[in-house]
Amino acid sequence: MTQLLHADAAGIARAVALLRAGELVSFGTETVYGLGADATNDRAVAGIFAAKRRPRFNPLICHYPDADAAFADVVANTRAQRLAATLWPGPLTLVLPRRPDSGVSLLVSAGADTLAVRVPAHDTALALLREFGCPVAAPSANLSGKVSATTARHVLDGLSGRIAAVLDSGSCPVGVESTVLDLSGAAPVLLRPGGVTVEALEAVVGSLRTGDDASGVLRSPGLLASHYAPRLPVRLEAVDVQPDEALLAFGPPLSGAGAVFRLSDKADLTEAAARLFAGLRQLDADAAALGLIRIAVMPVPHRGLGRAVNDRLRRAATPRS
Ligand code: TXA
Ligand code: MG
Repeated sequence: MTQLLHADAAGIARAVALLRAGELVSFGTETVYGLGADATNDRAVAGIFAAKRRPRFNPLICHYPDADAAFADVVANTRAQRLAATLWPGPLTLVLPRRPDSGVSLLVSAGADTLAVRVPAHDTALALLREFGCPVAAPSANLSGKVSATTARHVLDGLSGRIAAVLDSGSCPVGVESTVLDLSGAAPVLLRPGGVTVEALEAVVGSLRTGDDASGVLRSPGLLASHYAPRLPVRLEAVDVQPDEALLAFGPPLSGAGAVFRLSDKADLTEAAARLFAGLRQLDADAAALGLIRIAVMPVPHRGLGRAVNDRLRRAATPRS
């Protein structure tokens, strides 16, 4: 049985006790719900892969209450320090060289000599991390290949019975995962667009290379094309819609769809990002009930948080076998 814990002092204390015992606890962050384990406990970390049915080669993000704690496990260069000072706590993950004396399980790095670290901008998550006092490894709290969870209910839909508890802090305000930036090489490389915009990063560290034009090696396995997958096929850039389609609307909805989810009537990218995964889940459920065959998605502008939204939508639209 998975316990549902309130985001109060008693709930946080219970979550800490479970983490200390090597159990898995899901917790809300500003981006999505994480599936947390004590990052220094190999068995607990292995439990994450098992619970998610996640391929072994995918490394995990380590969560900390502040930059000092994070930089005790990795070697922070000047860029990392500047970004941490301006954008942490916040939806930004930095990939940096591991310190040889770090107690973080090697499984968290999936064998690499780097570690992804982040300080979430979320009161409950920070209280949990502070009270626990050890790094928490946490991928998004969904089964591998499924859409990320932005409410405790979403977490339970995928992982009920597979994890010890969910600390319910309501819905996640940002709604898309953190931006992942690799600072372990000579030049910074954007591995995953996310809650912090490229514009905000470039204001601090100058122009960025993206994973596509970098080495050609798949450096962030989370970028596997099929990572974000609703059950239904997805049709992007829809300018019309059929009665047998569900519509993910951005701005005022097109008419004629069999079901509609409104990301943002005002065409606000922040609101759309926050509602994206809930929308895909809702339309999947509506479509199953109504016999619809596809999700049509209205165009979302490719700027600011729209980049992260389009990245997730492109993955959702990638054909699966
Ligand atoms: O917002 C988020 O980042 C959420 C919340 C829970 O913090 N977490 C999350 O974790 O999205 P996950 O495991 O679903 O995605 C982690 C991403 C993956 O793309 C992974 O490949 C990449 O970070 N990553 C982790 N460690 C890495 C490393 N050492 N080198 C390169 N990429 C790494
Ligand atoms: Mg994920």
